[in-house]
Parts: sequence; structure tokens; C-alpha cells
Amino acid sequence: MKVNLKHTEAGKFEETRFEKIHNVIFKNSNEASIKVAHEIADLIKQKQKENKNCVLGLATGSSPIKVYEELVRLHKEEGLSFQNVISFNLDEYYPMEAENTQSYHYFMHDHLFNHIDILPENVNIPSGTVGVDEIYQYCIDYELKIKASGGLDFQLLGIGRTGHIGFNEPGSHYNSGTRNITLDHITRVDAAPSFLGIENVPRVAITMGISTIRKAKRIVLLAWGINKASVIKETIEGEISSDVPATYLQNHDNVTFVLDEEASSELTRIKTPWLVKNCLWTDDLIGKAVTWLSQLLGKSVLKITDKDYNNHGMSSLLVEQGSAYNLNIKMFNKLQHTITGWPGGKPNADDTNRPERNTPASKSVIIFSPHPDDDVISMGGTFDRLVEQGHDVHIAYQTSGNIAVADEEALKFAEVSLALNPEDKNSLKIINDIKNKKEYDIDTPEVRNLKGLIRRKESIAATRYLSLPDENVHFLDLPFYETGRVKKDKLGEADIAIMKQIISDIKPHQIYAAGDLADPHGTHKVCLDALFIALDEMKEEKYMDDCWVWLYRGAWHEWEIHEIEMAVPMSPDQVMKKRQAIFYHQSQKDGVMFQGDDSREFWMRVEDRNKETAQKYNDLGLADYAALEAFKRYHF
Ligand code: F6R
Repeated sequence: MKVNLKHTEAGKFEETRFEKIHNVIFKNSNEASIKVAHEIADLIKQKQKENKNCVLGLATGSSPIKVYEELVRLHKEEGLSFQNVISFNLDEYYPMEAENTQSYHYFMHDHLFNHIDILPENVNIPSGTVGVDEIYQYCIDYELKIKASGGLDFQLLGIGRTGHIGFNEPGSHYNSGTRNITLDHITRVDAAPSFLGIENVPRVAITMGISTIRKAKRIVLLAWGINKASVIKETIEGEISSDVPATYLQNHDNVTFVLDEEASSELTRIKTPWLVKNCLWTDDLIGKAVTWLSQLLGKSVLKITDKDYNNHGMSSLLVEQGSAYNLNIKMFNKLQHTITGWPGGKPNADDTNRPERNTPASKSVIIFSPHPDDDVISMGGTFDRLVEQGHDVHIAYQTSGNIAVADEEALKFAEVSLALNPEDKNSLKIINDIKNKKEYDIDTPEVRNLKGLIRRKESIAATRYLSLPDENVHFLDLPFYETGRVKKDKLGEADIAIMKQIISDIKPHQIYAAGDLADPHGTHKVCLDALFIALDEMKEEKYMDDCWVWLYRGAWHEWEIHEIEMAVPMSPDQVMKKRQAIFYHQSQKDGVMFQGDDSREFWMRVEDRNKETAQKYNDLGLADYAALEAFKRYHF
């Protein structure tokens, strides 16, 4: 399928009648990015045949990384030449030196230009160093240069959660050209991790305008991950408004949004397909529809009536199921069967309707935790129960998490260590390294080691508190993470080998892992990929037939109710115990470096979330628990 395929299939119009922008949804962002890269490559080659330049508008950020990776591969392995390409980047922070690793200059060279044969004189990126008095003229010249090159043949875009394209933040005018602009607070929050804190994120940028972008002959916008789902819905289905500048693209006649499943998940036809078309009622879809209706009406499942179903696009479901009564009971039982206080299975009990098997009574369990704290944050209650119920539980911390320890925290430990042993040269070096560190310096190996150790010891304190023997705690320190920078390496064979080794050592009956896909380029996703690759390579092993994989979600999102296949209740005492376990991760308390846009501490967020899940179950008509941890099974 070509990305720029227009909807032609019968029935498509019905399905997309809420949508004002053509969009294509892919299973994942890798597959999608490769398609987009090929569209760009085809355009470059077509222009070569015509002896013309190809003028590309390019974006930075996490969204286009894989597209650039594929373009580099096409250059290296398939001889794609960029000699006829003239590029114009959308934006740059201001002020910003080109050499700064945070600059978009650096990004573009790192991901693309250093690896292809584009002529340096054909690369245009707004400069973050023009004098304040010159910016006005500089921006006019940037516009004129695009025009003189023949205009943009193709514009690649990402989208910010504010609805910005380029850095055209809410309030941007339809006719705006290249200019300097103040960044929205949300945009700065999103950029904070790579700047190691919001206070380091520039407040201003130079950006191409809406009008500059609109003049491109073809526009492709990329959006990946659940964090983009709501702005994608607003942009595609909402009214055109300067509040969401990307909605201006509704007026362009050759634009395609390329989405992964998560980013498309709020679109009406995906979220509530029964409102737009006749559905094939799979069990999954029935669960989604009934829980949605119950929540919408504020009625428990057992109180939904025939009329309610008919009024909300579900008459065909009702016909299939006979009556609301049958359907409601079926759904109620399904939800009820997800709840268990025995996450490792209940020995000697009938397990026909339980999420886990009853045998073996004592299971080997690996809890994979991307960072040293996700285990207790995301499933501290379940972890506690598994240990208490006699399973052989192992915790495997996939990364060292060293980058998230603040310098001040590390300094404190190094000073204690030096005070204990004034001759200790290593502690002295660490103290000096931290004191002499410049803003964007990478930590020295000694400092990184100390930061990693801090997280290890915090983890051991938490796992001991939950009565886990120290020898059951494994620190994998996957190499992809150890760059000392926010940007990590790609997964390599060494990472997979480590994952396979621990699985084959423990031969688990259960694996728990973070299925948190909110940030498709984040560490959680990479850690999950590492597990999936390892499982795939090990699936022929006999013991893997008995291995079930349960996915939990990280601190930010929870599974939708209909996705939950195991819900583990917690009593108020267990909630307190979980909170205490999280407290042991002291370096991640009180204003951590990777806070995200939620100012609550991790224990607060997760406590609220577990209570909310319990409340939702209760609202659907199920028992009233203090809190619930939720899991979804992954079949490999
Ligand atoms: C980048 C740019 C921005 C980003 C947007 C999404 O040059 O202009 O509009 O495309 O902020 O960023 P990511 O892809 O990091 O989510």
C-alpha cells in the first residue's frame, strides 16, 4: 500500500465521515516510517529523472527518526542519492549554537546529513545565533530562499501535544510566515527530558509559519503513541481553529497523516466504531462497547437496557445477543473473572474462570522492570502478593537508570564516602567531576557508576522490604542504555543475549513486563522490544510452552477497562505498603529529572491511578475495592 493512497473502498466514507484529513493507520511506527521514507525516496528519484531538484521540508523530534534511519539505509544499501535534494528545516531553538547537542542542527546532522551525500550548501536550517535585530530580515530571507528554490515539494511534519506544527504554537495565524515565537509551556515540558530539566529548555524558537508549510505541494504528518491520540482527534475531527494550529491543514488538498494504532485510538471510527458503521462483533469489541456505554450513561452494566443499546449504535449487537439481559450478564461475568487476589494462580481451586492457571502451585516468576523502580510503582501490590503466596519471584532491572539521578544527589553520596575514607581517590574524583561539569557534559564513567549504584541500593532496600531475597534481584544494565545521554543506542545483540540468558536461567512460568507504549521511543518501549525479540527467539524451547506473559503499564497510563485481563485488588493496608516500597527510591522523589507534565510524585500518581481503576470497576457494578492493579496478557 502506498502512503498517499486515497480512500476509495466502498463504505469508507461512512466510516470516515467525522474526519477532515486523510489519514493512514499502521500497526506500528516502524512499518509506517519505512513507507514514508519510501515515498520521499520515490519523489527524489522521480525528480532526478526529470533533472530537477527535490525540495524537502524536514522536521526534528522523535517522530521522524525512523524515517531518517530508513533514508540513510536506502542511501547506503540501495544507492539512493541526495545530490539533487535541497532541504529546509522547520525550526530551531533560539538562542542556540549549532554545535550544542540539543540543537536541531546537531539533530539533523546526527540522524541524517552526516550519513548521506546531500551537498552541504543545500542544507538550510534556521540559525539559532542570528542577532536579535537581524531576526526579522533573516526570516524574510529564509522564506525567499524557499521560494527561489522552487517551493517545498514535500513537507514532513510531527505534531506537538499543543497542536503545533513546526513551532507554530496555539494562537498562530493562518497566514504566518517564518518568524520567532515563544514556546508553549506544554512544549517545553515535553522537551524537558532531553534538556535535563525544564529550566534549561529555551523559551523561544525560530519557525517556518503556517503559510510557509501550507504552500508545500505535499504534506505528511507523523504521529506515534498514545500521548498524541487526543490532539490527533482534535486535528482530524475538530473545527479549524488557531487553538490547534494543525487544524489549518484541513484546508490543504494533498496532506496525509500517518499514524500508529495508539495515536489513532481516539478517532471516532477507532474508539467507537459502532457509531459509524456496521461492526463485526468480536469479544474484544463487545467488551469495549459495553464498558463504554456503561461509563457514558453512568449506569452499571447490569442496568443497561435494550433501548440504551439501540440508541447508541449497538442494535446489531443486541440482535446477535438476543437481549440486553443476556449481554449484560455475559459482560458482568467476564469482568468479574478478571479479578483475582491470586496473581500466580490459586492452588487447588477450579481455574476455569480465573486469569491464571492453578498449577504449578509455586511458580517461577520474572518481573522485568525497565528502570529500577517500575516494579514497585506499577505492580508493587501484585509483587507483594506473589512473594507472600510462595512463588519464586525474581526482579530483573533492565537498565541502570543512572541518568535520572541528579548531580546533587550523587555529590551527597560521594561526600559521605569521602568523609568515611579521606584517602579515597575515587570519591574525590567523583566530587571534582561533578563540580567541574558544564551544562551539557556527559557524566564521567565514575559518576555514572555512582549514580547507578545509588539506584541499585535503593532497589535492594525496596525489594528487601517486600521480603525478596537479595539473590533474586538481578541488575541487567542493558548496554543500549549506557550512553550517558538521554539519547540511547539502538538495541543490539548484546541486549538480547542478556535478556535470553536470564529467561533461560529462571525458566519462568510467568513474566511480567512494562507494556507502556506512551512514548514509542522511550526506554520502556525499547525494553519491551528487547523482551519480545528474546521471546521470539526462544519460543521453540520446551519450557516456554508454560510461560505466560503479563503486561503492566508504567506510571503514566492504565489499560482501558476492556483490555484488562487480570485485575489484582489491594486492601488499604496493601496500598500503604506499596507506597512505602516506592519511598525507598529516594533519588526519584521530590522533583525528579524526568517528571513529565504531571507534577505529582510517582507514588501519588500511581495511587490515584490504582484507586481510579477500582472506582471504574465499582461503577460498572463490581465490588468496591480500595485499589486495583491491572494486567493484560501478551501471547507470543
Ligand atoms: C520539530 C517540530 C515539532 C515536532 C513536534 C513533535 O522540528 O517542528 O513540531 O515535530 O513537537 O515532536 P516529537 O516528534 O518529538 O513528538
